[in-house]
Amino acid sequence: MAKVFVTRKLPGGALDRIRQAGYGLEVWEGFCSPDRDTMLAKVAGVSGLITLLEDRIDAEVMDAAGPSLKVIAQYAVGVDNIDLQAARARGIRVTNTPGVLTDATADLAFALLAATARRVVEGHDYVRNGEWRCWHPELLLGPELHGATVLVVGFGRIGQAFAKRARGFDMTVLYTSRRERPEAKALGARRISLEEGLARADFVSLHVPLTPETHHLIDEAAFRRMKPGALLINTARGKVVKTQALVEALKAGHLGGAGLDVTDPEPLPPDHRLLHFPNVIVTPHVGSAGRATRVRMAEMVVDDLLAVLSGNEPENPVI
Ligand code: DGY
Repeated sequence: MAKVFVTRKLPGGALDRIRQAGYGLEVWEGFCSPDRDTMLAKVAGVSGLITLLEDRIDAEVMDAAGPSLKVIAQYAVGVDNIDLQAARARGIRVTNTPGVLTDATADLAFALLAATARRVVEGHDYVRNGEWRCWHPELLLGPELHGATVLVVGFGRIGQAFAKRARGFDMTVLYTSRRERPEAKALGARRISLEEGLARADFVSLHVPLTPETHHLIDEAAFRRMKPGALLINTARGKVVKTQALVEALKAGHLGGAGLDVTDPEPLPPDHRLLHFPNVIVTPHVGSAGRATRVRMAEMVVDDLLAVLSGNEPENPVI
């Protein structure tokens, strides 16, 4: 019987369909990724794998699975944890979950922007710590959302959904993209170079995948170009930002604050320097964590896994 290994329990009932389709199913019950040795042992002889963004799926894992491995279905849109070249060389299909998590991720990016600008977490801590004694005209002032200029770095599905939310708050929207995007017109967004956009924006929100080109895209030079007091929002991948440069920009007071759903390293240790800044909000990589979104993502990975295993074309092929 062909076997499938899933590296975590997934919400909803989608995984049941793997067993119903006649495959052997093993689901890792741990909260975090199996350790390396366990992963290598668990994948031996499987035909299909369902993976998460923290599972490092490289040539060693593929070879440990052996020639039976036909498909790696990634429960995420980002696939930077999978060695695509190694998969291609072995004729293994890789699929992901684009589209379905666009709105949930854009919602969280906007929530981080609003919370960082209007100092929501600082306000909550102020109340919780018993510091709220009276109303004061200068208490917890922050930049206005309406009327601000936002730079959307990367204008794919999530970048566009974020732009739509920014327009709803009467912001001027600038975006970077390798090419002019026809969708921008309806969103009232204008294409600009990264350099110029960084210099003009009050808020910068990152929506690019992690690739060799985007690794440390936001480094010391990028922070220097940003307007004093600007805010950085990252719901893309932690390594798009050079953490050391981010810390320095915050320390110097040049950066007004940051809202981060992704960090480098990830998970961020509780004693990390980033967590010492009151104007930094960090959430634990939960951009797509809408209940319905996560159930739908499970349906998508199972659909594509079963499609490949039964000799059909998956709906969301990466390769
Ligand atoms: C993704 O899909 O890449 C997100 O980071 C997790 O849902």
